[in-house]
Amino acid sequence: KTALAVREGVLPPTLGEDPSPELMAGPLRLPAHARGWVMPEGKMRRAGVSAFGLGGINYHVLLEEAPTPAADRSERARGLPQARLPARDPLADRFEVELTSVSLGARTPRAPVAGHTVWILPDDGGLWRAVGAALEQRHARVVVLGSEPDAASPADGIVDLSTFGVRGPEGLHQRASEATRRALRTLRPVYERFTRARPAGAFYVAVTSLGGDLGLGGAGEGDLAGAALLGLAKGLKQELPASLCRGVDFDPHEDPETVAEVVVRELEDGNDQLEVAWAGRRLVPRLRRLPLGEDAPRRAVEPDDVVVVSGGGRGVVFECATALARLGARVVVTGRTPLPAADAPFLQLDDEAFEAFGREHMLARRREDPSASPRRLRAEIAALEKQRELHENLQRAVADDLPLEYAECDVTDRGAVDALFADVRARLGPITGLAHGAMVQWSTLASRKEPAKVDATLAVKGAALANLLDATREDPLKIVLGFGSGAGRFGNRGQADYCAANALMAAMIASAGRVDRRGARFVTVDWTAWDSVGAAVEDPDLKELLRSTGITSISVEEGLYWFLREWTAGASSEVVVFEERMLHDWPFLGRQAEHDESGALEVDDLGRPFVEGAWPLVDQVLEREPGRVVIERRLEAERDAFIEQHRLHGVPILPATFGCELLAEVAALCVPGMEVEAAYDVRIQTPAKLFRERPLVLRARAVVEADGAQDALVRSESRSRLTLHGRHLEERVHHAARFRLRLRGSAVVEPRVIEELEGTAKARSFFHMARAPVTLGPLYSRGEWIQVRDRVIVGRIRAPRQRDVSDRTSFPLFQVDPLMMDTAFQIAANWDGLGQGCVSIPYGLERLRMGRPRRRGEGARVRAEVTRVDDPDVYYDIDVASDDGELLMEIRGLHLRRITEGE
Ligand SMILES: NC(=O)c1ccc[n+]([C@@H]2O[C@H](COP(=O)([O-])OP(=O)(O)OC[C@H]3O[C@@H](n4cnc5c(N)ncnc54)[C@H](OP(=O)(O)O)[C@@H]3O)[C@@H](O)[C@H]2O)c1
Repeated sequence: KTALAVREGVLPPTLGEDPSPELMAGPLRLPAHARGWVMPEGKMRRAGVSAFGLGGINYHVLLEEAPTPAADRSERARGLPQARLPARDPLADRFEVELTSVSLGARTPRAPVAGHTVWILPDDGGLWRAVGAALEQRHARVVVLGSEPDAASPADGIVDLSTFGVRGPEGLHQRASEATRRALRTLRPVYERFTRARPAGAFYVAVTSLGGDLGLGGAGEGDLAGAALLGLAKGLKQELPASLCRGVDFDPHEDPETVAEVVVRELEDGNDQLEVAWAGRRLVPRLRRLPLGEDAPRRAVEPDDVVVVSGGGRGVVFECATALARLGARVVVTGRTPLPAADAPFLQLDDEAFEAFGREHMLARRREDPSASPRRLRAEIAALEKQRELHENLQRAVADDLPLEYAECDVTDRGAVDALFADVRARLGPITGLAHGAMVQWSTLASRKEPAKVDATLAVKGAALANLLDATREDPLKIVLGFGSGAGRFGNRGQADYCAANALMAAMIASAGRVDRRGARFVTVDWTAWDSVGAAVEDPDLKELLRSTGITSISVEEGLYWFLREWTAGASSEVVVFEERMLHDWPFLGRQAEHDESGALEVDDLGRPFVEGAWPLVDQVLEREPGRVVIERRLEAERDAFIEQHRLHGVPILPATFGCELLAEVAALCVPGMEVEAAYDVRIQTPAKLFRERPLVLRARAVVEADGAQDALVRSESRSRLTLHGRHLEERVHHAARFRLRLRGSAVVEPRVIEELEGTAKARSFFHMARAPVTLGPLYSRGEWIQVRDRVIVGRIRAPRQRDVSDRTSFPLFQVDPLMMDTAFQIAANWDGLGQGCVSIPYGLERLRMGRPRRRGEGARVRAEVTRVDDPDVYYDIDVASDDGELLMEIRGLHLRRITEGE
């Protein structure tokens, strides 16, 4: 423990009782929390470890930091490297938002506007005329609204042009807030109608002018206020899933006829995309996972850093602020809550006593002022609760001796912000970092939003940010980091205005970054929920909302990791931190955003899957026509751990099971909406090796042999080109198989109980196939125990670590569960391994049948039986079943060949 503390530069907290008061009265301190062990330049960390015992033990050891190379030491002194992965696997990942082109092609419109009544919220220019004309041409009835909705003719659709045009930054927040309130006001009288509409029968479309890139590059000349409406539309879509709610963004100078045409086409198409941009072609956002490995740190946290953190007195932002203070920065956190007097009676109470105090307080106040409403009294108690949290947090900072202080400041008040910054500069020096974490939000359906609360929600994210940026125009800022939310990126029910506020903030940050000349990093981090601290646990409405929508939370430790990593090492202007699972599950995101009737559209115009984890072995669809698909996958040891960890004679080689997966994926892409049910005659003809660790590009081709309504038969094979000195010599076939496919999600549960072999010992250490000449990494060592008797082998497999398979995805959806299959092969091979000491490798299998899909994190049992030995070939039948007795996989005729060293 001590060696670790010396090496990592962290003083671990003391376990156990509080020390005696006499001890604490002197200059000694026992750390109650882990704290940074910062040494002045040139000094070393030293620690003593004592062991004294009555039995005669009497040792004292002195440890001193190992001398580090000078450069490394100065990096450490400057606080590098800072972000450390949490002890447990992170739940979330970091994604970058990129735009990718997806044309609508020749799809037949699924949601014609003919016969619809459409309200237009007009722009100041003349765009509304062009849009109105285009809608009328399609036989819609158009009503151009004045200041109020038209009660006489309720709308089936709303086209909101109110932020379209060229506008500077002046009055941005007022415009954004007014536009959001107006959209909500317009929606209110038809909200119920929209909730009852048939699919795609109603719509809200915001047409914005952020430059045709959804504000990802900053707004340029257009109107940033539109970003709020883009966020609003996403929030509305989660509440009104059957309606089309979408933002469509353009360059403000785009020709009005084109805008009108694109908008109407987009509406009539009926897809569920939340936001679309038009820059001469149709663009939609795609989330790309940024690999987990450590980026080289770009910004150090230094002792002369002065960081102002809005909203940092409480919640998750306080945790982040202390992390910076721990690294030596001087941090000023702000909030509106006044600091309580140190002797305030409610500060010393535990939670239970505080509850009693609250009841007493309410009764006493009621006696004093009988007109005080219970709501007002509850608000008073809530204000005291805030003071308690603030006080407790600041006490923690004092106990840890952190350079962190609190300043009462409402960041929406420009005067207060200026005064605060002037004071900070005078006492601590110029401001080098800004984190904007302040927020307020009230969760309720869009139809019930109160205008004053909508205004406040947008003001804290938007107007306050403008104040902070403006006030630090002359400071040597190195970084501006906004606390955004997944709500701004994907929308969330009950949070339409909060979605708007977060989307506005992200666009403002991107925009400020674009014109900044100081080289500062401007970034928004769109967070998923945090557990144990912050609004997601303390606000009961929000807590319930998150529970009902199935959003999982990250731990504080993990949140801090992502925060510090972004602060010190990242480079993008917006990152999303969330669980990759959501790309498969969250409505209208990733896989579910863009689809046509057959579910075929899972790739963009370049053929790249929207969601990499949905097709983990497909980089690009090269050719696609009815009944035939060709894909490409570049195998790279550096990025694909499933190859890096699988070697024959030291050469990375594609495992047979992943070869089978590659064929299965191209087969499934060939028949949209279907998944692999069975594979036949799987053959490994030439092993796919990465000679000299160089990438290998495989092409796989699938052709439909028979296609029915419920199932289909497809043949696929994979090939690569053999290249010598840059010359293509020949094409080699690596894997080939035939597949039967079933409708996606139609698997039936089939019982299959795998009994342990009675009277046979369970071996926990057994013969792995990872013996020379084969080497296998931890991905492939998931066997838990095995039993072997006669020709039967029974064993158990721990859940595979799928998140480590490749750095493209942490949530791969496989067709044939290759890691599970691989371990099943290894367990079977123990019969030969234990008996004969033979290492063998797979050559193929006759038949594989998939049972029900294995649940995430689920292990399985295996029963293998040797059916034929024909030296050097051994054949097996294998069943893989869940612990609760359901078939996961049935393999017949697995062919393993014994190999020897050097073969
Ligand atoms: N917690 C999560 O799971 C989560 C998830 C996604 C995103 N986020 C984002 O992370 C940030 C913090 O969230 P949280 O859960 O920690 O929220 P929180 O506990 O409600 O904290 C919000 C903070 O903002 C301060 N604040 C509000 N209005 C202010 C104003 N006008 N001027 C100065 N300070 C103001 C509050 O202090 P006073 O009340 O004293 O003013 C409070 O300290 C937010 O920006 C949020 O959008 C959080």
